[in-house]
Amino acid sequence: MDEKVLRVKDELLKIHFITPKIVNFHYSKYGKFDKNYSLCVDYEKIKDSGVRVTYEEGENYYRLSTDYLEIIVSKELGKVSIYDKGKNLILSDYEDKGYVKEGKKIYTYKKIRHEEAFLGFGERLGPLNKRGHVLINWNTDESDHSVGNDPLYQSHPFFIAWHPTASYGLFFDNTFLSYFDMGKEDKDYYYFCAEDGDLDYYFIYGSSPKDVIEGYTYLTGRYYMPPLWSLGLHQSRWSYDSEIKLYNLAKEFRKRNIPCDALYLDIDYMRGYRVFTINKKRFPHFEKMVKDLKNLGFKLVVIIDPGVKWDRKYEIFKEGLSKDFFCRMENGKVFTGYVWPGKSVFPDFLRKEVRNFWGEKLREFINMGVSGFWNDMNEPSVFSRIEYWAMKILFHILKFKEPPKLPKPKNFEEKIKQIKRKTVHEKVIHKEDDKIFYHSEIHNLYGLLMNQATFEGFLKANPHERPFILTRSGFSGIQKYSAVWCGDNKSSWENLFSSIITLQNLSISGVPFIGEDVGGFWGDCERELFVRWMELGIFYPFFRIHTAKNTRNQEPWSFGDEAEKIAKDFISLRYRLIPYIYSLFYEAKEKGIPLIRSLILEFPNSKEVLSYEDEFMFGPFILVAPVYEKEKRERKVYLPEGFWYDFYTGKRYRGGTLVKVNAPLNKIPLFLREGAIIPMWNTQSYVGEKKQEMLNLEVYPGDGKFLYYEDDGISWDYEKGMYNLIEFSTFKKEEKQFLRIRFIHKGYKDGTKSLKVHYCKKEKKLELMEGEFEIN
Ligand code: GLC
Repeated sequence: MDEKVLRVKDELLKIHFITPKIVNFHYSKYGKFDKNYSLCVDYEKIKDSGVRVTYEEGENYYRLSTDYLEIIVSKELGKVSIYDKGKNLILSDYEDKGYVKEGKKIYTYKKIRHEEAFLGFGERLGPLNKRGHVLINWNTDESDHSVGNDPLYQSHPFFIAWHPTASYGLFFDNTFLSYFDMGKEDKDYYYFCAEDGDLDYYFIYGSSPKDVIEGYTYLTGRYYMPPLWSLGLHQSRWSYDSEIKLYNLAKEFRKRNIPCDALYLDIDYMRGYRVFTINKKRFPHFEKMVKDLKNLGFKLVVIIDPGVKWDRKYEIFKEGLSKDFFCRMENGKVFTGYVWPGKSVFPDFLRKEVRNFWGEKLREFINMGVSGFWNDMNEPSVFSRIEYWAMKILFHILKFKEPPKLPKPKNFEEKIKQIKRKTVHEKVIHKEDDKIFYHSEIHNLYGLLMNQATFEGFLKANPHERPFILTRSGFSGIQKYSAVWCGDNKSSWENLFSSIITLQNLSISGVPFIGEDVGGFWGDCERELFVRWMELGIFYPFFRIHTAKNTRNQEPWSFGDEAEKIAKDFISLRYRLIPYIYSLFYEAKEKGIPLIRSLILEFPNSKEVLSYEDEFMFGPFILVAPVYEKEKRERKVYLPEGFWYDFYTGKRYRGGTLVKVNAPLNKIPLFLREGAIIPMWNTQSYVGEKKQEMLNLEVYPGDGKFLYYEDDGISWDYEKGMYNLIEFSTFKKEEKQFLRIRFIHKGYKDGTKSLKVHYCKKEKKLELMEGEFEIN
């Protein structure tokens, strides 16, 4: 038995054990299970899990237990309490408020444990620990990234409740507008609420936050191995809007010997912003240009917006309309709204045939050599007619560099109204087979579905290569398809800082391939800010410079010689780190563990690390402590327990304390954990420029282990076993440091042939073979 339906108060509660640690709680609503589907959990995977559960019914309670958990449901109050095997209470309903209905709305209230911290909730501004905060789930094109502004473009109704005894994760599988009050209303409880749909959530038990993330991504999916080139630098702006500009940009990178792998085309490559068209005046030889860029080692990524221009002479519009692929209102009229192309219609991505239609349109671009797709405005963002004209005037005529700030809503209700106005009407209809859904239920999934269409379309057109897809909007599970960037930040110190935390929370929410616009999007960047942002940006898993229309240039050489030199040194460091980064992506693919790790992920038992949200671990070994204030030339860094080594000087520090370190303009404080093993390549102008047969291993004193992964970097052959997995470990024996090499999997012939081990300023060459080698 892995499922039990219990009667609690006047409703039914279905308890479904997905694994011995993951349990789904699903309540009926007015006597019915309104929803017997999940729009983002892989149902096949969780259907018949066959977990061994013991069940007992007493006079006042039901008891269900697995190898890890014990769940008690009181009959009278319907109160659910979950214990671990050590009898520690992990989660319990608050009083009798485990299930509260109010019209269509549903609520559940849970007790807050003393010392509990709430982490995750996807892409958020504000502090790492969300205790005491309210978070809204409604994908919104929010152009003002001031701290505290919520929500942004993605919804991840998931969090980890960290506690010294045991952590758990909670995923609310409801796509309507929902919000979480994490102890703002009352410090003793938190609650979450959705405007409609069912109370259907997953409890994920974990011995540590990483364990919870593994469970959560088991449910919602994990990222595939990214194309290796996508780990290099991406250079973008709104817009490099002609062939000549792109050629010059490419040549400039190569002339200055600054590594770069990807160049971007923003909306101006299209004919009047008509999606899937090319402006032949600006790009008369598009295909040749793509080929030439490839010869210089650049991949091209093009922007794709979901809004299709209302134009009876335009193929995509005509075809979509004749096949009835665009969203309609309840009264049958095609829904129209304004976006960059003016009056536009919106594909109903919920339907498979529409996703196929859309995906098929990528083929022509892929055949011309385009390597990646950048899905933007897919909340979907919709302007009113007045806003559309105002934007035209502000950006095209008056040359604004950022949009004016809107007045802040006075209260919560006003806020909800404001964010709902920025998209498709709630009563727009979506269809799937014979089911009909209102936009209010599908809104948060719109971006995810567009990415699914892109992913599937890419695979059909080019089944041999892994796609590179970048998205702004998404929902839980977006990591199955795409990399994510966090939209329109500003060239400000505030947003450099907020990115450090936003990316930690998005990572905790199971999304590994993430980044923010380096240098900031709106407004003009300045020299010092750019330099500091580049130093941080090389530790964004997705590393892209991007800026808005009318702003000053934001290329690595745009801020004078000194800034260029520093930027170049850090970009080169990024390129040297690619083998480390790629291996970390293997861990993300296998277990969902992100690359950007809040300290609590690596030091799960140390409550004090939660106070240091302005630094993070990049993988298991590199501690990154960015400088986020103007003219700052030193900063305090908290080093968790253990020993640490300054990346630049090798100086050893004892952890468990705050240290003050120098941070001249050309240095971002970086520390290596004891026992660190960092595989590195020699730098190159782009991924694949030079055959990398020799791997540098930077090894630090202490005990440590690292799983090194390699494959051909582009095809799906790794799924057939064509990859290598090598375990490197280092340890001390009789005052000597050793390196042990063990092959875990051997399936790829063209990988590393030899090693150069760097240990305490000494270098040692080794053949790549199994064994234990002294390295000092
Ligand atoms: C949106 C995107 C931004 C892009 C612009 C023009 O604001 O977030 O990155 O440059 O649209 O396409």
